[in-house]
Amino acid sequence: MKYGIISDIHSNLEALKEVLAACQKERVDKYLCVGDIVGYGPNPKECIDIVQSLGAVCVAGNHDWASIAKLDASYFTPDGKEAIAWTREHLTMESFTFLNSFPLIEKVEDLILVHGTLFEPEKFNYQNNIAEVPDSFNLMDKNLCFVGHTHSPKVFVQFKDKVYVSSERVVEIEQGVKYIVNVGSVGQPRDGNPLASFCIYDTDAEIIEIKRVRYDIEAVQKKIIDAGLPGMLAYRISIGM
Ligand SMILES: [Fe+2]
Repeated sequence: MKYGIISDIHSNLEALKEVLAACQKERVDKYLCVGDIVGYGPNPKECIDIVQSLGAVCVAGNHDWASIAKLDASYFTPDGKEAIAWTREHLTMESFTFLNSFPLIEKVEDLILVHGTLFEPEKFNYQNNIAEVPDSFNLMDKNLCFVGHTHSPKVFVQFKDKVYVSSERVVEIEQGVKYIVNVGSVGQPRDGNPLASFCIYDTDAEIIEIKRVRYDIEAVQKKIIDAGLPGMLAYRISIGM
């Protein structure tokens, strides 16, 4: 069984299409989406339609909730707020209903999905470093948890009372060890690498792999500008920040 785990698509249709093409080459059986299908980018409805058509198991991201007024977006950056207002105007009733159906935490067989943290998932906390992960590890009743939100791919590993971050792109799953896997962002990477990020989990080989693919960044930048969205949102996808 192969899972394709995607996150933080942020209405970037070109990036999503390339990620899904790569997943098809990998012969992915099931898709999981750990939040933020919308926000920032120019194609919210199209991205929602694709994720829905995949039959992906989804959890809510803060931008998903903000775009349907389920979360107060006043703490968002000015560009983020402007994009949420724009996104609201471009959602169909069907898109709204789909986004409104997402839980904060979902469990799929031996996997846990959450956008931010397992504690206070409704607050969409960030897990950037080792100091921020112990509370989530303590709440894990399974050994694998997939997250998004920071837009920076990373694998946190807990073995006995030790926690460390793996810098490897390929991680072998071992018994008695817990993993929090940040799969990075499809549509707005922020780790200095502009390539779209996603994750493949091969349950037979017991291997997790973070993968990156190229997409037509210039085409998305043009769409962002043509839509009247903030220019900085176009610039940042070219540098992965
Ligand atoms: Fe996000």
